[in-house]
Amino acid sequence: MSTPHINANPGDFAKTIIMSGDPLRAKLIAETYLEDVKEVTNVRGILGFTGKYKSKDISIMGHGMGAPSASIYFHELMTTYGVKNFIRVGSCGAISDNIQLKDLIVAMGASTDSKINRIRFLDHDLAAIANFDMLQACIEVLKTTTINYKVGNVFSSDLFYRPNENDYTLMAKYGVLGVEMEVNALYALAAEHQCRALALCTVTDHITQHEHLTADERRTDLHEMVKVALETAIK
Ligand code: ADE
Repeated sequence: MSTPHINANPGDFAKTIIMSGDPLRAKLIAETYLEDVKEVTNVRGILGFTGKYKSKDISIMGHGMGAPSASIYFHELMTTYGVKNFIRVGSCGAISDNIQLKDLIVAMGASTDSKINRIRFLDHDLAAIANFDMLQACIEVLKTTTINYKVGNVFSSDLFYRPNENDYTLMAKYGVLGVEMEVNALYALAAEHQCRALALCTVTDHITQHEHLTADERRTDLHEMVKVALETAIK
């Protein structure tokens, strides 16, 4: 049994998965942090791995960019492979002056310009929210670190290149902490399939201040975020 986009065997995935947009990041995370690691899927270059972190089974996988791509992998993992706990580690762009590059945003909820959750939810607005227990576990982990973190709303955008910059002013006014592209889909699919989900985003660019991290800074921050995700996963 495999799915159109995942060629793993039944039982290849752990109950808990950490996912990033970039499959090569998933490979790097798996090879750096997991023991007894095995590649379990590679359709279209979207790589997935399973191994052990501190003796607990964990999978790591890419999901591509944007909600349509990511939703395919979330759906197939939830419905066919029995994955129950999802932690997304990604990047986001900041839009308000009180958020800095390198801050870690813990997405308590996701607003969006996408219609996908309305398609899913009878055209009503679903509050796309994180799982509370995972959120709480993550905050406990973060309190043991020196990472600057903020907890709140992200905005999951269907557009990376947004034509109207005024949108960002409005989002900032409503307290949106960062703009990214997948959390709305993850949280809605988790609700639909009785799974648990949490998303963490490093601020890699400041959209309104036109600043961004260097490649080296991105790499360092990825590792800080991944360690938080792994510790949250085993709590
Ligand atoms: N991820 C990182 N930066 C982003 C941005 N500016 N817009 C959407 N997603 C992002």
